[in-house]
Amino acid sequence: MSGNEKKLWGGRFKEETDKLIEQYTESVSYDKKLAPFDIAGSIAHVTMLGKQEILKEEEVSKIISGLNDILEEIENGQFEWKEKFEDVHMNIEKRLTEKIGTVGGKLHTGRSRNDQVATDARLFVRYEIENILELLKKTRKAFYTQAKKHMDVVMPGYTHLQIAQPVLYAHHMLAYYQMFKRDAERFKDTLKRVDVMPLGSAAIAGTSYPLDRKFTAELLKFNSVTRNSMDAVSDRDFVAETIFNCALVMTHLSRLSEELILWSTEEFNFINLPDAFCTGSSIMPQKKNPDVSELTRGKTGRVYGDLMAILTILKGLPLTYNRDLQEDKEPLFDAIKTVKLALAVNAKIVEGMEPKKERMKNQAPKGFSLATDIADYLAKKGTPFREAHRIVGEIVAFCLDSEKSLEDLSLEEFKRFSDIFEKDTLNLMSVEGSINSRNITGGTAKEQVLKELEKIENEEKFNIK
Ligand code: ARG
Repeated sequence: MSGNEKKLWGGRFKEETDKLIEQYTESVSYDKKLAPFDIAGSIAHVTMLGKQEILKEEEVSKIISGLNDILEEIENGQFEWKEKFEDVHMNIEKRLTEKIGTVGGKLHTGRSRNDQVATDARLFVRYEIENILELLKKTRKAFYTQAKKHMDVVMPGYTHLQIAQPVLYAHHMLAYYQMFKRDAERFKDTLKRVDVMPLGSAAIAGTSYPLDRKFTAELLKFNSVTRNSMDAVSDRDFVAETIFNCALVMTHLSRLSEELILWSTEEFNFINLPDAFCTGSSIMPQKKNPDVSELTRGKTGRVYGDLMAILTILKGLPLTYNRDLQEDKEPLFDAIKTVKLALAVNAKIVEGMEPKKERMKNQAPKGFSLATDIADYLAKKGTPFREAHRIVGEIVAFCLDSEKSLEDLSLEEFKRFSDIFEKDTLNLMSVEGSINSRNITGGTAKEQVLKELEKIENEEKFNIK
């Protein structure tokens, strides 16, 4: 076999690798995505080797300019990825030697693919978390804008998908704001554990070369360096954490999707989604389907699958590196790609949706949603709450029997159930009154929601025209 075709680890092998085995063991078809990070890592490593006088200056500059040329080839789509060289790391190293000769072989001094791939993955995850944080902010801004724009919209709030109490539509929107804020905090926290450099751990035990790990870390803008080489080459907790964070974002998007799907039905009829985000039916001409939300709900299942995959890959692994770890990449890439798209799409939908104000307002007092207010009225006048609860329960039963709503009842009818009811009872029959009575931090009263909007504006500094 000619030198060019020989594998980097080919020295101890007498036979060529079986073709099917090459297909089975390769990762280059997907880990080529790591190329820019791989090259950045290599440039930092070799710069440090020069500073430590492990390599000569001219060797270092040859290697760096070779790597830069390769990056250009990759970016221009001229680079020829070869399955037989297994992965992104060996494809690049092989090409380097092809371009600059045997000196290219010095790049891997004091390094192993085990600490190399762990470094690449951390650089990649760090970069993508920044992108996800941007998209999460966009999503939060969409909810904030909806809330601010529709402060006058009231709607029924639900528990058990049964009408519970009236709320402000803005309050409902800001509930989602909170979810996506927690998601961002979770990613930022993960970042602390991602931002640690494994280089210098080499294959398992560290290296006998006098590397300056701190210097390499500074070049790559890592916050710190790993403290145990065996852990460093086998740790993929940061991958699991990142996929979990993605899965939880998807959970939130999926809950949102379910609500948007329900709200767009004839039965709810609470919102209008922009035509541009809906699709039609090939047979039923009247249909406008919320497919985008359905797909988000479906894609959530995929990302949960990614999470199960990484957890299962890790669970039986003895220290340290095992080839199983190569299987971390596809779930990681898939989860990140899916969550990014889903956030971008859903931010747009939230931005574009229109609440149907009249319909929501009509539905707000349905299902006896003011019953708690009546019980609270009695309790505030001294009736023990349990007793008040029973009395109002009987009123609701009476209404059901006589096909009336609470608003239809006269004071005399109320008094039949308790003589504590006075004229002001009838004032309770207002959706706005009910909402504004919940004037407590975190409550739905207009005053509280306005306060919350102000707080958000101060924290986020959204740029809203
Ligand atoms: N492609 C490999 C992976 O993704 C790189 C590390 C290979 N190391 C090894 N000892 N075979 O995990």
